Amino acid sequence: MNRPPQLKGSLLTGHYGQFKKDPINLLLNASNELGDIFVLKAFSKSIYFVNHPDLIEYVSQTNYENYIKTPATPLRRILGDSIFTTDGEEWLQKRRLYQPALNNTAIMHYFSLVQDSTEEMMRDIATESVLSSTVNATRLMTNVTISVLGKTLFGSNLQLGPNIYGDIATIMEWISDRRLRHPFVVPISWPTPNNKKFLAAVNSMDQMIYRIIEEKKGDHNSNDLLTRFMNPEEGSVKLNPKSLRDEVMTIFLAGHETSANVLNWTFYMLASHSDIQEKVFQEITSIGDRPLAYDDLHSLIYTSQVLQETMRMYPPVWHYGRVTREADKVGGYDIPANTALRISPLTIHNRPEYWKNPEKFDPTRFDNPQDIQAYTHIPFGSGPRLCAGRNFAMMEMLLIINEVVKTYKLSYVGEPIQMSPMITLRSKGDIQLIMEKR
Ligand code: HEM
Repeated sequence: MNRPPQLKGSLLTGHYGQFKKDPINLLLNASNELGDIFVLKAFSKSIYFVNHPDLIEYVSQTNYENYIKTPATPLRRILGDSIFTTDGEEWLQKRRLYQPALNNTAIMHYFSLVQDSTEEMMRDIATESVLSSTVNATRLMTNVTISVLGKTLFGSNLQLGPNIYGDIATIMEWISDRRLRHPFVVPISWPTPNNKKFLAAVNSMDQMIYRIIEEKKGDHNSNDLLTRFMNPEEGSVKLNPKSLRDEVMTIFLAGHETSANVLNWTFYMLASHSDIQEKVFQEITSIGDRPLAYDDLHSLIYTSQVLQETMRMYPPVWHYGRVTREADKVGGYDIPANTALRISPLTIHNRPEYWKNPEKFDPTRFDNPQDIQAYTHIPFGSGPRLCAGRNFAMMEMLLIINEVVKTYKLSYVGEPIQMSPMITLRSKGDIQLIMEKR
């Protein structure tokens, strides 16, 4: 069997210890030294990393039916059988349901709901910047992205209930922790304090979601996402309450921390690069002295490039996984059936073969999008499983940046902020920014 190369590791544990301690450096070193495809080992288990655009295309597009979602992950324990966790016909039916709920017409409607959440956030910034010399960008972005999803999913923030922020945080911590400590995790059925806290959080979210599903029965006219799911177009499947719950939970978990992280890193980058911030400000103010309209989003070309560059350097989903159904050959190497295979946006976004000076923050890389080689910039994934919420996320992020940069000049004083690779790529500690009114 022709196996891809691997880094030196421990005879017994492979690269497990290094991955737990510093996964980012381990992955970047492996990518630099071994290139297009490599193997990392966790004890006897081999994990294949595909790290070349042609191979990423092959695995996630050309032969994607052979590369399915990992059947047993902590995520499945929470998301159930949703668009994120299923495959084949079951997945396709759900994907068809999402299409009209997140297309451009639907997003145009959600725009005003995002505006409402952004206004609330601006009030919080105004209060915080008076009370303190710095503003906690990380916390604000987490809150605003949850509020946005609450309004978009249910049509109102009020229905979320007071516990939602804490519950979501508990669930995300639990998944990250299990992922990092895998395979040394106690079963979920053991009544440890962590497991109990996690189950209570899931239970509390479930109750809220089921309550709202119940309330919405008979509502055919509202424009929110849940009403759309509950009244599908002809030909689409009609989901039962448990399946609806799985999709709502998926959107909460897939849609808030990802966008929150990109915004958090973007504000940090803008605060650290005053020239780039000034260009964004110029672009935003060139629209005129009036609130941003949905149609204006297309004019925010440079601001979009800033977001693309932030997602290149700090991709929230820094690796995503598949399992081979049948044995295959990838890049000339043999991949057995039932093998774990991963694609890392973080490593491909840092390969100097495709990105000159990858460590430099430079939004002009995206001046000519046609020059970006396919499958070298994959923050939203690749192939048919591409992020279903990507256009929604771009709208939301552009709107929030627009409001903040129009009103405040950002700066950052302190040590460079490190990455904290949890389930998504967070900042190590909250990012505190100086925000001065313009
Ligand atoms: C900047 C923000 C976001 C990033 C970087 C991001 C990234 C991703 C990535 C990489 C995947 C593919 C994972 C895989 O193939 O295993 C994905 C899938 C998905 N995302 Fe996002 N996401 C973002 C925001 C959102 C939002 C706001 C929503 C919902 C409103 C959303 C909903 C989904 C769904 C439903 C899937 C599953 C698609 C499928 O399997 O067919 N995402 N996302």
